[in-house]
Amino acid sequence: MSLSRKLSQKLADHVNDIDLVSLSRISEARLTERALPNVGLVELVSAKDFAKLYDALYISMFPHQPERERSDLITDRLQKEFAGQRRGLAPYRIVGIRDHEGKAIGAAQFSVLLLPGYAVPYLQYLYVRMENRRQDMAEVLHTMILAVATADAKAHDNRSVPFTLLETEPAGYGKDGASRAVATQRAIIHTKAGAVAIMLRRESDGTTSSPHVQPGLEIGDPPLSLVWAIRRSPAVVAQAIDVVDVEHVGQDLIAAYYQSLRDEGFPEPNIRLAESIVRDQCRDRDFVLMPLGEVVLPKTYSLNV
Ligand SMILES: CC(C)(COP(=O)(O)OP(=O)(O)OC[C@H]1O[C@@H](n2cnc3c(N)ncnc32)[C@H](O)[C@@H]1OP(=O)(O)O)[C@@H](O)C(=O)NCCC(=O)NCCS
Repeated sequence: MSLSRKLSQKLADHVNDIDLVSLSRISEARLTERALPNVGLVELVSAKDFAKLYDALYISMFPHQPERERSDLITDRLQKEFAGQRRGLAPYRIVGIRDHEGKAIGAAQFSVLLLPGYAVPYLQYLYVRMENRRQDMAEVLHTMILAVATADAKAHDNRSVPFTLLETEPAGYGKDGASRAVATQRAIIHTKAGAVAIMLRRESDGTTSSPHVQPGLEIGDPPLSLVWAIRRSPAVVAQAIDVVDVEHVGQDLIAAYYQSLRDEGFPEPNIRLAESIVRDQCRDRDFVLMPLGEVVLPKTYSLNV
């Protein structure tokens, strides 16, 4: 695939024997026509390049704290990842796209969660600068997320990578009209890209709630409940068999999510509070997959609940 010719040496070495075509939702012809002419380089972003090239774009795309993770934590994690000092921890990756002048077009920031028998890239942030929107750049990033995670999973008992997990808001979520419009648009874009929400439903009354409860990222920050969505790997979709057992997956994801937050040193009291909220949510409820557009707004939790 011509996408391979755009990869930095480090990224090309990492995804060496992985078939990128099977991991792409869109055809090679469409990629060649729309995205690739604007792409200078696709890379595994280093701490130095994140600070120099991507950080300002990341901050401008996610201007609201506490939705955004602190940049110094990100650079520190990248530095350790590149130095091989994160053994035993979920691999942390940023795949970035640069233009022909070396400027940042967009990036995907994710961890690779290692679950029993499989691995799941957990996409925290995905962004593309305005002038390169609607050119399939997000699709290029989705493909590379799966490729990088597959390479990481190979190094861990050759686990399979059935889907990407992403965090998003439900349509219409937000405190004012502008943020509600952004949330609705994100839900539309994720749905077009093939994502569905993973929710909890109570059989008796049909009510749903979200299994995603993010602990406050800093001491004193309240937990935040958004939505988890999964985007099946195009390789899995092509097999036409559903390898996602939602009940199992839901419990595995919750366990792996809080484990990775503990491993990364986020505040323990905040994690315990978020976990107890999720435990309550799970009582009498089953995991279900549903269209992102049908998700009802979850409550936003404060530390005083
Ligand atoms: C979300 C975002 C990354 C999408 O990037 P992009 O490169 O423009 O997306 P793509 O061109 O790859 O499009 C992917 C799909 O979504 C659709 N899409 C993209 N933008 C859309 C929009 N504004 N309205 C409707 N559909 C849209 C595309 O048509 C495509 O679907 P298709 O294959 O059916 O045509 C970009 O809009 C962005 O950076 N937004 C701000 C940050 C953000 O909200 N990130 C997501 C949450 S982490």
